Amino acid sequence: MEVLSVASEVYPLIKTGGLADVAGALPAALAKNGVSMRTLVPGYPAVMAKLGQSREVYYFSDLFGVTGRLIAGRAEGLDLIVLDAPALYDRPGNPYMGPDGWDWPDNWKRFAALSWAAAELGLGLVEGYRPQVIHAHDWQAGLVAAYVKYGPSATLKTVMTVHNMAFQGTFGADIFAQLRLPPHAFSMEGVEYFGGIGYLKAGVECADVVTTVSPTYAAEIRTQAFGMGLEGLLNNRSGTVFGVLNGIDMDAWNPATDQSLSSTYTANSLGSRATNKAAVQEAFALEPSNSPLFAVVSRLTWQKGIDLLVNCIDMMVEAGAQLAVLGSGEAELENAVRGAAMRHPGRVGLVTGYNERLSHLVQGGADVMMVPSRFEPCGLTQLYALRYGCIPLVSRVGGLNDTVIDANVAALQAEVATGVQFAPPDEAALANAIRRTLDLYADEKSWKKMQRRGMKSDVSWESSAARYAQLYASLIGLKADDDT
Ligand code: ADP
Ligand code: GLC
Repeated sequence: MEVLSVASEVYPLIKTGGLADVAGALPAALAKNGVSMRTLVPGYPAVMAKLGQSREVYYFSDLFGVTGRLIAGRAEGLDLIVLDAPALYDRPGNPYMGPDGWDWPDNWKRFAALSWAAAELGLGLVEGYRPQVIHAHDWQAGLVAAYVKYGPSATLKTVMTVHNMAFQGTFGADIFAQLRLPPHAFSMEGVEYFGGIGYLKAGVECADVVTTVSPTYAAEIRTQAFGMGLEGLLNNRSGTVFGVLNGIDMDAWNPATDQSLSSTYTANSLGSRATNKAAVQEAFALEPSNSPLFAVVSRLTWQKGIDLLVNCIDMMVEAGAQLAVLGSGEAELENAVRGAAMRHPGRVGLVTGYNERLSHLVQGGADVMMVPSRFEPCGLTQLYALRYGCIPLVSRVGGLNDTVIDANVAALQAEVATGVQFAPPDEAALANAIRRTLDLYADEKSWKKMQRRGMKSDVSWESSAARYAQLYASLIGLKADDDT
């Protein structure tokens, strides 16, 4: 099976969040299931710089008013097709925002071009390459399914994966004339969304299959509280909406071999985590101490419940905990954490910015990884935490609900607990969960057991990759294991 994955970020070339990890890990995971996956990404400077041997396979003389090239090549083990259109992508910094923190004003065009190129590839634009399925990720690739639906191919199939309903790519109706879609595509069955244009809406409406990244989120987004305007649409097509849980790259995230750690370890040498804990304490300017070390590695945003955490920090410190926060995001939240670090020198530390290496070290040294999200489509940090014997403390939403087993009495008795969950996502419930975690930590033997159990839980791509392969196969009328 030949599948083209379309994503606006892919690890390790360009990453702002979990989407990159998923887009980066899927091809290798799918290869084991007989799926050959190429990934189409925009030619951001970071991507162009890492592209190894490559060749131009197509030239667009008019790509929404600019020129562009499709370049086929490999980088970091990924089989890529890069859309090199300097007028659209050759810009500094973040893929979506300028240095001033505002979205690039031509994002509609930048990602329409990406989706357009994908759909054209699906029609056989490049000799010798014809994917049977296009797998589009998030709003940036939302128009793929619309271009396919309103295009000439009757056989090309599309899968739309929603990684986050909060980012929908909505624009004014005035761009429609430039989208290269027929007039009737400006309708409920097409790209129209509350009078404007919705890229994610278009994908959810037009794709043959819609998936999201956990079973719980797949159910949640059918409700008003989580659907963010698309719940009606999802309910209308609920037979073709699936939740497929993310996995993690088990090689990139392996405490036994991880070069970012001060000391590697396995479930049988958990004592070595102490060296990493000391390194984390140093990196976050915390006192060397045996206190329970809580950590956060996250975008600092409302989604992630960072404001809830901020309100619990004084209580945590009073109870004897330390806290290390690695992240950046909303200025107000960043400042609030910084304020807490100033109030509690040596007990609370903040490192801002994006630091992949430090994120690994924190997983390998902290005792508790906090993910107090208000909503969480899947969440990867708790999966990394499980793999690293760092106990996840999470809200009971989305993928956090599907991946962590709460240490309630029954789960402890049955010896299946892997972390701590709380609900609803509010301050009181979080404070309670923190107290519960501290009590659990005090029982060293049972804590260790919980760490080991987490490290054994299956956070790999194995079953989910098989599920994607099965979905592709069903779309093109194959049985998953028929194909070679
Ligand atoms: P989301 O995609 O919503 O941000 P996920 O949990 O799916 O949440 O993925 C977040 C990814 O980004 C993880 O790989 C996490 O380790 C990483 N990450 C988040 N913030 C930082 C940071 N400041 N430095 C390094 N990695 C980070
Ligand atoms: C989004 C979600 C996150 C998910 C990631 C990868 O960024 O917020 O929950 O893990 O996509 O699917």
